[in-house]
Parts: sequence; structure tokens; C-alpha cells
Amino acid sequence: MITMKALITAGGKATRLRPITWTINKHLIPLANKPMIFYAIEKIAEAGVKDIGININPGDTAIQEAVGDGSRWGVKITFIEQTGGPKGLAHILKVARPFIGDEPFIFYLGDNIILGSIVRFVEKFKKEKLNGLLALSSVRDPQRFGVPEIKDGKIVRVDEKPAEPKSNYAVTGIYVYDSNVFKAVEAIKPSSRGEYEISDVHTWLIENGYDIGYEEITGWWKDTGKPEDLLEGNQLLLTEMSRGVMPMEGEVAEGATIHGKVSIGAGTKIGRRVLIRGPVVIGEGCAIENSYIGPYTAIGNNVEIYNTEIEHSVVFDYVDINCSRRIVDSLIGKNATVIAAHESLPLGNRLIVGDNSLVEV
Ligand code: G1P
Repeated sequence: MITMKALITAGGKATRLRPITWTINKHLIPLANKPMIFYAIEKIAEAGVKDIGININPGDTAIQEAVGDGSRWGVKITFIEQTGGPKGLAHILKVARPFIGDEPFIFYLGDNIILGSIVRFVEKFKKEKLNGLLALSSVRDPQRFGVPEIKDGKIVRVDEKPAEPKSNYAVTGIYVYDSNVFKAVEAIKPSSRGEYEISDVHTWLIENGYDIGYEEITGWWKDTGKPEDLLEGNQLLLTEMSRGVMPMEGEVAEGATIHGKVSIGAGTKIGRRVLIRGPVVIGEGCAIENSYIGPYTAIGNNVEIYNTEIEHSVVFDYVDINCSRRIVDSLIGKNATVIAAHESLPLGNRLIVGDNSLVEV
């Protein structure tokens, strides 16, 4: 049996997700109440890989604290600091070479969310003895991604963010390689944006006679760059979760109405005048009164919600909301307070909002 390793990316600045990412690494943002990176680790563990490296920003400790040593997934995790600055995905591979050694490996961008398993990608890579396998997804906006040109069922080259895409596929951030990938990593030159591009690695491998296969992701795939992508990811993960058992550990008062699949954490109290329409997940130690919690909402731990309607939103831990309004499509960061204006004088909207925030009133 061939053993295989995996490398997950969890660094970067995630500027498009500010202000949330001023204080939290993007890969730790909770989706359906679980840090985003946990989904990548789960998929890799499910594919039978036991030895996972995670690429982190220099000095970052938050990812290590959240992830631990991997024992909860039955895997071993090694953290690899990105040295030499952010210089593109191919450079991340180069930095991780001592960890990977000569074994084949899965390269998984930690901000890519997919529904379903990656096992068939690994199986195809092994069965067809490929040098590389790229997971493709059909998209409406290929110019945002690495785009393959396909002729006679074979990828003939990959262009990074092309103005004129040669297909409607994105090369997603889930790749399987053998150690020949490092030859490409050493050979390519930085692109016009100054990065060692993973798409150039792929084109180099193909042009030098290596066998690069592909497999289409038929279910849902998303690279979570923007707030609306996170909300969509949260929605899809809640939908997937709602197909299984959703534990109900908190206290639900008589008179509260719960429709559809809803999970409620230990120590959470749902009051009498509350309507919850799933899929919804609510963490531990929360209090909810006189409110409506609509579909596709994930509420963290120790959150209080009074006199409010909220749906299709992600609420982090320790948030207080009491505002007699309807909140939709929102990301509400840790410790935030959203209260009704009429409780303080003078009347008006009083905002204490961090840099790069977005408020629609
Ligand atoms: C990166 C890759 C791109 C790939 C995408 C998938 O782009 O460079 O080829 O399609 O990830 O998530 P980035 O998200 O860094 O712009």
C-alpha cells in the first residue's frame, strides 16, 4: 500500500474578509459552528491519510491552539511556518518539502469547502498511477481561478486567472501529487504578480511529459474569499449536517416552536416566545427570548438574542443582540453588540465599528 501525506494551507491575510480577519485567522472562522479548517482535516482523514502538515503564517499560534496534535481525528499534525514571505502556492510546496519527503501527497487549500468526499480523487490518482490529479469544478466565473485547457479528455495547460478562459472549469484547491511536483516547483519563474503560481507548476508538469489527470467535483465547491461565500458555505454545511442527527442538549421552554433540523448546545435556554426554523445550529450557554431564528443561521457559544429576527447569518461567540429588527445575510464577530437605538438618547444610529466594517442601516 502506498502511504500518503497531506499539506493544508492555513496562512495568508484574507484582506477581503476584514474586519473579521483582523482578529481571527480566516481558517478558524466558524461555519456551521466549526472552524473552517476542521472540514479540510476531516476530508483528508476520511481519505485514510494519517500524516498532515499545516502551513501557517510565521509566529501564528491560533491555528495550533484550535487544531491541537490531530489526535481527535486519529491523525498526526505538524505545523510548518511559511518562511521567505508569501510568494505563492508553489513556494508553499517548496517550504514544505522536508516534511513531505518523497511520498505522494494531497495538497489542500484550507479555505476550499466541498460537500462530499475526496476519496475518489485519491483512488483515481493511485489506480491510474498519475503524477498529479486536479479536482475541477464547473464555474460561472473561471477568470477568478486557475483554468484548464482540455483537449481529447486531457488537460494540455492551466492558465492562472486568464482574461479569456479556455474552459468553464476552475482548478480547485484540492490536488494530489507525487514528488515530481518538486521538479516543477524548482523550475518555474514568478508570474507578473510576483508569485510562484500553482497553475505554472501544472503546465510545466504537462509540458515535461508527466501524467496529470483530473476529476470533476460534481457536488458543491467554494473558495471562501468573500463574506457572501462564507454565508453560502455556512448554508451548504448546515444543509449537509441536517441530513444527519442534530443533537438537542439545551432547554426548550414549553411554547417555543422548533421546525426542521435544529441543534442546540448544552446549557442553552430557549424561551417561550421563540420560533426557530432549521437548519440552524446554536452553541452552548446561549439565551434566546422573544425572537425568530431563521434557516441557515449558525450561532456560537454564550450568545444572547432578545427581541430580534435573524436568518442566513453567522454569529460568533459572546455576541449580544437585542434590536427589534430583522438581521439577514450577516457575519457578526466575537463580542459584538447589536442593540436597539431607542434605548439611548439622542435618537439615531450609534456605531462603534472597526476598520473595514460594512454596516447597512
Ligand atoms: C488559488 C490558485 C488558483 C485556484 C484557486 C482555488 O487562487 O492560484 O489556481 O483556482 O486557488 O481556490 P487564489 O484563491 O489564491 O487567488
